[in-house]
Amino acid sequence: MLKKLNKFVWFFTLFGGDRWRYIKYCSISPVCDKQKALYYKIIIETHSLEKGLSVAHTRPGFGKSKINYLIDALSKYDVAFGAFPVEKTLGTLQAYYDFHTQINFEDKILDKVSQTLKKHEKKVSLNGGLREFEAPLKLGSQKVGSDLLKSRFSSRVYSEEKLTEQEVENLVRIAQQAPSQCNRQATKAYFFNDINKIRELLSLQAGAGGFNQDVSNLFLITSELSAWGGAQQRNQPYVDGALFSMALLYSCHANDIVSCPLNLAITHKTSDQIKKVANVNKDEVLIMMIAVGKPPKDILTLKVAKSARRPVSEILVFNGAKNE
Ligand SMILES: Cc1cc2nc3c(=O)[nH]c(=O)nc-3n(C[C@H](O)[C@H](O)[C@H](O)COP(=O)(O)O)c2cc1C
Repeated sequence: MLKKLNKFVWFFTLFGGDRWRYIKYCSISPVCDKQKALYYKIIIETHSLEKGLSVAHTRPGFGKSKINYLIDALSKYDVAFGAFPVEKTLGTLQAYYDFHTQINFEDKILDKVSQTLKKHEKKVSLNGGLREFEAPLKLGSQKVGSDLLKSRFSSRVYSEEKLTEQEVENLVRIAQQAPSQCNRQATKAYFFNDINKIRELLSLQAGAGGFNQDVSNLFLITSELSAWGGAQQRNQPYVDGALFSMALLYSCHANDIVSCPLNLAITHKTSDQIKKVANVNKDEVLIMMIAVGKPPKDILTLKVAKSARRPVSEILVFNGAKNE
């Protein structure tokens, strides 16, 4: 009886602990390390510019307020904390400048971009913007081993072709090889190729602006809460769900289907709305959406966001060495 009561109390203490830890350490907290938060914020804002450049129909002059923010942020950021965000921003600003010069687009923002690039010239290398793949595209089916894993990328450009049921089943069967806690396999994949449903679902997701009209195939990944019990397991649906999602992304890549994970960082209200549209049961939690599709057939070059990776030394820690 006491054991049961203790477990019940954990629903309050553990969930409550999560809440306070998040409030205390997340980027908007007054006690959060300002340079650390800025490091991430610069990467995030720069990436949204990269994304804008990587969609099928880039809007000339897009992202001015982000550029103004980034220029200001660079002046406040201490490079000694890590050069990566600066390299990523400058690489992306260069790509932004090049894109607009090529289409002869004129705007004051380009003068600002050019001045910023000159100011930092030769101080750091450029590590952002776009990667371009020439046709004929060599996607995952032509790669093996580490090359297969290293060559996956998020694409925000797709053909209109709908995937067949057989193709979708094959993708999901491969993704089922993802490990899951006690092999419980509580993750579910909902697939949509009904354009109206996709539009409705993506209107409730906040990260596909600029390419949501080009998505013709969409997964929604969920986990059934009935597979989990006790407050200690509160995050495990997301752990298993993320592993399954990663396996699905690789499954797509191995079958020459391009993909893009789409965040569901949403409120409960939006989650309920998505569940209603997608016919998802109330006892499931939403993990993420994944846009998938074949690359356009007639494409000469597929451009994707570079999404450069941080130096390994910044994230790999041996034997619990103190890392500040
Ligand atoms: C959980 C998750 C949510 C994501 N959400 C979005 C999104 O809403 N919109 C988008 O364009 N990309 C989204 N992405 C894709 C990331 O931007 C991308 O994975 C990252 O920049 C690394 O690039 P890569 O996938 O090409 O290696 C998401 C990725 C993950 C893992």
